[in-house]
Amino acid sequence: MCGIVGYVGKKKAAPILLDSLKRLEYREYDSAGIATIDGHFHVKKEKGKIAEIDKTLDLADMPGEIGIAHTRWATHGVPSKKNAHPHLDSFGKVAVVHNGIIENYVELRNFLKKQKHFFTSDTDTEVIPNLISYFIRKGKGFESSVREAVKKLRGSFALGIVSVVEPDKILVVRKDSPLVIGVGNGETFLASDIPAILPYTKKVVVLEDGELAILAKGGVVVKKFETGKIVRKRPVAITWTVEMAEKTGYPHFTLKEIFQQPDAVQDTLRAAPEELKNLAKFLLKAKRVYLVACGTSNHAALVAKYALAKLADFPTEAVISSEFQESCRVDRDTAVLAISQSGETADTLKAIKIAKSHGAKVACLTNVVGSSITRESDLVCYIFAGPEISVVATKTFAAQVSFLLLLASKIAELKGLNSKEFEKDLNAAPKIIRSVLSEVEPKVKSLAKKYKNSRHIYLIGRGLGYPIVLEGALKLKEITYVHSEALPAGELKHGTLALIEKGTPVIAVVPLGESRARMVSNIEEVKARGATVIAIASKDDEVKKHAEEFVSLPKIEELLSPLGYIVPMQLLAYHITVERGQDPDRPRSLAKSVTVE
Ligand code: AGP
Repeated sequence: MCGIVGYVGKKKAAPILLDSLKRLEYREYDSAGIATIDGHFHVKKEKGKIAEIDKTLDLADMPGEIGIAHTRWATHGVPSKKNAHPHLDSFGKVAVVHNGIIENYVELRNFLKKQKHFFTSDTDTEVIPNLISYFIRKGKGFESSVREAVKKLRGSFALGIVSVVEPDKILVVRKDSPLVIGVGNGETFLASDIPAILPYTKKVVVLEDGELAILAKGGVVVKKFETGKIVRKRPVAITWTVEMAEKTGYPHFTLKEIFQQPDAVQDTLRAAPEELKNLAKFLLKAKRVYLVACGTSNHAALVAKYALAKLADFPTEAVISSEFQESCRVDRDTAVLAISQSGETADTLKAIKIAKSHGAKVACLTNVVGSSITRESDLVCYIFAGPEISVVATKTFAAQVSFLLLLASKIAELKGLNSKEFEKDLNAAPKIIRSVLSEVEPKVKSLAKKYKNSRHIYLIGRGLGYPIVLEGALKLKEITYVHSEALPAGELKHGTLALIEKGTPVIAVVPLGESRARMVSNIEEVKARGATVIAIASKDDEVKKHAEEFVSLPKIEELLSPLGYIVPMQLLAYHITVERGQDPDRPRSLAKSVTVE
């Protein structure tokens, strides 16, 4: 959940570390810190957002050409200066930044206390520099001390480690937490995520679980941390530009990414066919198929479940990753398609591991090359949506849905069903999203002004309208902090209707298709209890007459509706957030990649 970066080279480290931290800040943001070495350690850290900390501490003003830095999201210990990273050992020999969780830290802490180490924070991390320095004090070198220490850690960790005993290198270790190494000219970088180092290098080495890397000015050496055996690795070239990872004129990443959806979908549809056929065959071989994902990716999976059934007569089950272990029957005849934008979501990774341990085959769909999920999967597919910086997923939802609709069409084709017409329609998706984006914003802005102070917003849909409203409600919750609840429209009368009273806003998503007429009855049902209905439907739809507010969309074929109908809800969430004076790019308590269970 935290972000780590590191630099060793010929330049002053602190300004580069600060810049990289800012690029990672979307990950976590309750505290931050930097440690550099110039003869001895220089450490600056504090609670708060990086910009605020920088104002008071002037983070770029630190000597040294080597350093590590961290932006934290609290797991063990409240956000505070003493809990902020980097953490040093009791004897000032080692500094560590850590992303992950050390499960056996209490046991290690007790052992170290007996060895005269003392602890100043409430974190699990502080045992790591102390354990390393324990071995250094026993006479071992820096690298062997790190290897010895790491072997004793249980849990997940991506670590950046520097030591005054060998002040020309950064040691980096990875187990179940993301980490990349950037190779520059006479300088080497480390980061939890690629955008952090994009301005400095496009050559990246992805570290696997169980590996340790030694970073120096001249390059990087990778070894297995258990055995010390060298692993030869070639850097991969990253095609993302710095501009792709920046805001390019939009006030927020969230808005930029909403408007990038046509391009993201275009890129996905262009690149998908390469792996699509293999994935279709892979799934067709299985007796049972689970689509496993969390949050927005789960909503894309629900769309896929619907499309696979309707278009390809191919039943699947969409399962929330954290429910997989308890609720699914898994054996050698099972195939899992894990869907994850980041490729790092701990719940999804765990589900994959469980599926594999029962003999199931696993394929994945992700946006991040070299992410953990890709390494656990038998077959890997990418959406190629480009970096998504905003915590709320928008363009990657559109890209996932497009890929999965194309998959449904491919499976239909392989089963001898006619899907040609649908494929043609799907190719028009970027154009459809573009026209929705250009048409709906003025209306959505006025709705945002009117409904920004609502205490509750309910959202209803049927069929494909249901995953659409689930995703709409998630966007509203994540950034507006207004309680938003989505439900299948037919389910209202089984309880939630009791909460609808005079003036309660109810968003009704009414795509074309068989459910349309029944949605009109549900709209009347909530109106009868005093609700203010905001309907989202096709331009000429009669539904307009039944609603107080109407968001008019171009005509969109039913199976493509998630791509068009989600847009007004993404924009509504964004504009309500801005109206309320909140920052859509930095929702409270949330992280972009949820790398803890
Ligand atoms: C989406 O807006 C959320 N930030 C969140 O629900 C997200 O979709 C979920 O954590 C899954 O992430 P993943 O796709 O990277 O696995």
